[in-house]
Order: sequence, then C-alpha cells, then structure tokens
Amino acid sequence: MNFKGKDIISIRDFDKKEINFILNYAKKMVPYAKGEKTTTILQGTVLSSLFFEPSTRTRLSFESAMNRLHGKIIGFADPTATSQKKGESLADTIRMADAYSDVIVIRHPLEGSARLAAEFSDAPVINAGDGAGRHPTQCFLDLLTILLEKGKIEGQNVILLGDLKYGRTVHSLAYALAMYGVDLTFVSPKSLQMPKETLNECKELGADIQSTTKLDKAIKNADVLYATRIQKERFPDPEEYNQVVGSYQITQEMVKNGKDDLIIMHPLPRVTEISPDVDQTKNAVYFKQAFNGVPMRMALLSLVRGVML
Ligand code: CP
Repeated sequence: MNFKGKDIISIRDFDKKEINFILNYAKKMVPYAKGEKTTTILQGTVLSSLFFEPSTRTRLSFESAMNRLHGKIIGFADPTATSQKKGESLADTIRMADAYSDVIVIRHPLEGSARLAAEFSDAPVINAGDGAGRHPTQCFLDLLTILLEKGKIEGQNVILLGDLKYGRTVHSLAYALAMYGVDLTFVSPKSLQMPKETLNECKELGADIQSTTKLDKAIKNADVLYATRIQKERFPDPEEYNQVVGSYQITQEMVKNGKDDLIIMHPLPRVTEISPDVDQTKNAVYFKQAFNGVPMRMALLSLVRGVML
C-alpha cells in the first residue's frame, strides 16, 4: 500500500483495509517509540507543526514521533507570535510552511481548515484537529489502543460518553468503529447527542446503535468505555455549558459494576469526567492511549513520506 504524499484530513478518507494496514504498521513502531530500538528513516525530513489552538498530547507526540524518526521540526504553538497577527491569510501561512518543510501538521479552530490547507500545499497535510470537525490521528491511535488492549476491534461493545455533539474525536471514532461491526452505545445529555449526520453514517455502515442518557445501566455490558470532556470552548452560549457541565463522572464504584476486563479510554485532557482514583485501576488505559499517539504518528509520518521501516 502506498500513502506517499497523501493528506490525512479525515478517517473517512481511508477504507478498512488501509486502516488495518496502518494499525499493523504502527504496532511495529512501538519499540521505536519507547526508545528500545532506533531508526533514522526520516533523517533529512522537516515537519511544520502549526498549532493555532492549544494542545499537549497531539503536538508533543508529533514532536516526539519526528524526533524518534530523526527528522526535524519547525513551527509554532502560539499563532499570536506569527504574521497572522498582521493579517496574513491561512492560505499564505500554508504556502510558507510548504516552502520550508516536507510535511505539515495543522490544528486550527475552524472546521474545514485542514482540507483548505491541503489545497494550498504540495507537501502532505495532516489534520491535528479542526474545530468540532475531525481528528483523524486521534482516531487512529484510539483504534490502536483498542487493538493492543483487547486483541481485536471487531465485536466489542463500546460506549461513547459525554459531549458527543462538539467532541470531534468521537465523530471520527464512531464512524471508524462502525466499519468494524462494533456495538455502539452513545451516552450523553440530551443537548449533546451525537449529530444526526454521524449517527446515520454509522447506521449505514451496519452498526448496532443505542442512545441513552444513563451510564449506570450501559456500563454493565461494555468492553470499552470511551469518555470525553464537555468541550466548553465550543459552546456558543455559556448558559448551555453550565446546564451540562459535570453531567457524568466515572468513579471506582461504577467501574466495579462493569466487566472485569472493561477498559476506560479518554482522549484527554480530562476535567471532572473521570475521578482520579480510577487511575489506579487496571481498567484505566487513558495514559497508555496517550502514549500510543507516538507510534501511531511515527507510522503516519513515515507513510506519507513514503519511507518505511
Ligand atoms: N487528545 C488531544 O487532542 O489532546 P490535546 O488537545 O492535548 O492535543
């Protein structure tokens, strides 16, 4: 399979065969991501890391990935220190990054911004999150986590919990999981339900879907509980946020009511959705999940450069 020069804008740009190939390749990257093995396959490659929105995991794991592959990174995490402040357009910023580097990673608050960036760049563009839209590399690392923890994705009973309206990670993940014939349960406050468009896409892919506001009952049959933060920054009306903040908190007690091998995932950052005492349980895999961003992003960078291990 050849991904050289491919933009990674949405998980919808990949079929299941391609996703499986990428997951298997990312598994090979794990010892390199841990520093147990070394490789120089991206020596001489320059990555532009353009973060117009805050990030901890996505930005640092891309940087770690590029360093582990012996490539170099340029870019910014604070757009106010760039010529955007003087009124430069996104298109012109992308043209510059294209001139200075071989791959562009972009996070931007506007939905569709990564797709637009790809139109102005010859170098491949990787979407690191565009508003409430897509976050494909998060989706890939979420799938990798389920695969590594459960041995397979097919047939799992997965709960997506929390802000299903504004949470971009769950939009991508629901779609991808539907491709694997997963049983999906959407648990959210009524005002933050999964958008109809995503719901219908999942149904068209043949997924068995339940929607509820109650976590207690749903957790009993779950293999994977994927929690999300209520995305405060995306609410047009602060009052709407105040009505739903703190709707769900996963506690040790709740976890005990679930299956023994239930795994709890979260794209992070978390605020109050998971009680800190859950961290000590064997069920909590969200920090491992965040680490999996490194091998997955190593795999994706390597593939879009057309240089493989
Ligand atoms: N999961 C995720 O995208 O985290 P950051 O916002 O810290 O990058």
